[in-house]
Amino acid sequence: MNHEKVTLTGIKPTGSPHLGNYLGAIAPALELAQNFQAYYFIADYHALTTLHDRERLRRSVYSVAATFLALGLDPAKAVFYRQSDVPEIFELAWILSCFTPKGFMNRAHAYKDKVARNMQEGVDPDAGVNMGLFSYPNLMNADILLFGAQVVPVGKDQKQHVEFARDVALRFNKHYGKECFVIPEPIIREETDVITGLDGRKMSKSYDNTIEIFLPSKKLRKVVNSIVTNSQAVEEPKSTQDCNVYAIYRHFATEEQKVAINERYAQGGMGWGDAKKALFELLEQHFGSAREKYDALMAHPAEVEVVLQEGAKRARIVATQRLNAVKDAIGLKF
Ligand code: TRP
Repeated sequence: MNHEKVTLTGIKPTGSPHLGNYLGAIAPALELAQNFQAYYFIADYHALTTLHDRERLRRSVYSVAATFLALGLDPAKAVFYRQSDVPEIFELAWILSCFTPKGFMNRAHAYKDKVARNMQEGVDPDAGVNMGLFSYPNLMNADILLFGAQVVPVGKDQKQHVEFARDVALRFNKHYGKECFVIPEPIIREETDVITGLDGRKMSKSYDNTIEIFLPSKKLRKVVNSIVTNSQAVEEPKSTQDCNVYAIYRHFATEEQKVAINERYAQGGMGWGDAKKALFELLEQHFGSAREKYDALMAHPAEVEVVLQEGAKRARIVATQRLNAVKDAIGLKF
């Protein structure tokens, strides 16, 4: 199908994705492919701002790629590529940096927070900040603007980045009197997408309370069993409210399943072990066949590589066109 509107999603490869990533970002991003021409890319050069371990970076890139493919990304329809395979992004990043006030980057949340923390600790404000981290938002601007993305789905924390991209695009278009860039709009994912982790806090890698999407069955069972519950006895009637097991269950269950399990909780006679078993089975059912695909892809990274190379080829056609128009506008190309 030929959709006119373009959407673009960048995924930073920093480890194996978990259920929070799935519900909050991956599933909604994949859905967009139904109504848009979708671009998905693995932001490996963004990861490089913090990830300097060769094997972990390599593995994360393949893991993210295999995850998206296993969960239904169709590389024939969407354009799926690795950022570092599209050098035009980095050319544009330099050009855009020459139109971006340094003050913007000073105000970028991630950098500003880091500086604030350093000052609090009484160390140099820029301690631990490399230039990649500082200009992270500039590279994002290039990611977004090079492909004419109209709609960029992001979490709240990334909204500012899309606003930077809008500002730079408007500035550039106005200065040269040409509509070189499409002005992107953020769509902000709601906080309701936040999923509870093993210990009841928000599921997050930094709390070490996550459930990875494609854990092997045995490990998944173990992790589910480690969800923190209260000490009610088996026979006691229980409430699904404030139950960390149900807080995850409800995201994957049908309405009927939810009604049924609410009854089982209320009746008493169901222990936490049973509740965890129900969650385990539900997750198995939800992700079991995707996990087989994921495992097969992870066992054959060369196949993933072929998909990414094919995607990069398609991405570069679009990228080159826009980059040439930009170079022409600024007087670099005749
Ligand atoms: N910064 C995003 C993240 O941390 C990843 C990303 C890189 C991105 N480039 C992008 C997201 C462009 C949207 C558009 O997840």
